[in-house]
Amino acid sequence: MTPYAVLEERARAVLPEPVFDYYAGGSGDEETLAANARAWSAVRLRPRVLRDVSRVDTSTTVLGTRVSAPVLVAPMAFHRLAHPSGELATAEGTSTAGSLLVLSTRSSTRIESVAKVSGPWWFQAYVLQDRSLTKDLVQRAAAAGARALVLTGDTPYVGRKRRDRGSLAIPDEDFRANLERLTDLTLAEQASNVTFDDIGWLRELSGLPVLVKGVLRGDDASRCVQAGATGVVVSNHGGRQLDGAVASAEALPEVVNALEGRGEVFVDGGVRSGRDVVRALALGARAVLVGRPVLWGLATEGAAGVRRVLTELQEDTAHVMALAGAATVAEVSADLVWTP
Ligand code: FNR
Repeated sequence: MTPYAVLEERARAVLPEPVFDYYAGGSGDEETLAANARAWSAVRLRPRVLRDVSRVDTSTTVLGTRVSAPVLVAPMAFHRLAHPSGELATAEGTSTAGSLLVLSTRSSTRIESVAKVSGPWWFQAYVLQDRSLTKDLVQRAAAAGARALVLTGDTPYVGRKRRDRGSLAIPDEDFRANLERLTDLTLAEQASNVTFDDIGWLRELSGLPVLVKGVLRGDDASRCVQAGATGVVVSNHGGRQLDGAVASAEALPEVVNALEGRGEVFVDGGVRSGRDVVRALALGARAVLVGRPVLWGLATEGAAGVRRVLTELQEDTAHVMALAGAATVAEVSADLVWTP
């Protein structure tokens, strides 16, 4: 079993079945979920020999913020389903690991409370059916110290998940953590008329840089940057939105080529090892985001588990960099990827 599989099994043992299924599952027949992992494995590396790798530095910057490694925490809903301390524990574990948290619009803890215990963080924005609600959330995040917004663009409707058999109960207090006054909950659902114009809207009302998450095509990435985005997150939502969508490792080169350095490119989906982190960087990503592994760490050990998942990924990344002949993140360049 891979270290990731061991961790996932530990989480399965402690979580109620409907919660584990909600976290682990993908949409449709889970084709894209499976493709994400396979696509990273298909990227072969061309290691350099005889380089001084006695010291390896995994640190880098993301939108100008220094992090201990190019591994960030992906936005995910309802952390209190995994652990009573929820996002507070995730924020603590993330900051002690020197990483950066992307806090979901669906946070089950108040934005302001998470901000108090968090290191650097970004806020993931869904444009909701009630735009005044979106505006309120985004402005609260900016006031609380978010350094960027991540607009998720791949969720006009929530993907249907077969493992979700209707038995998952999300406590009202968790759903409403940031929506206390709302009486009509349909207003808090994702809007299905979000367009490139909303990038500028969010930028203006928050004063923050905006990344667009869920981009899988070069032409879309270009349009995002033209519309004012500072970069994109190449992502298929961990295989939870359009099933059959291209794997993130397959889409990454197209997006990197299209942007030609006009924005920072991030990637997520199936990143499970230092190998995968190095592969992503060599294909042109600034950093990766990890999703489910963080939830498994949170479920099994709270803040300490989140820290452990992140530090183990950092250490594994350093080890793989050394064996590949790269002492710094800047040395993880495109020539490390083998093309047949
Ligand atoms: C997510 N993801 C997600 N994305 C987002 O923009 N807003 C959200 O609220 C959520 N919620 C969410 C819940 C759960 C349980 C999962 C597993 C995922 C997607 C997430 O940010 C990311 O794109 C993927 O999880 C990355 O893939 P891996 O690392 O989980 O394979």
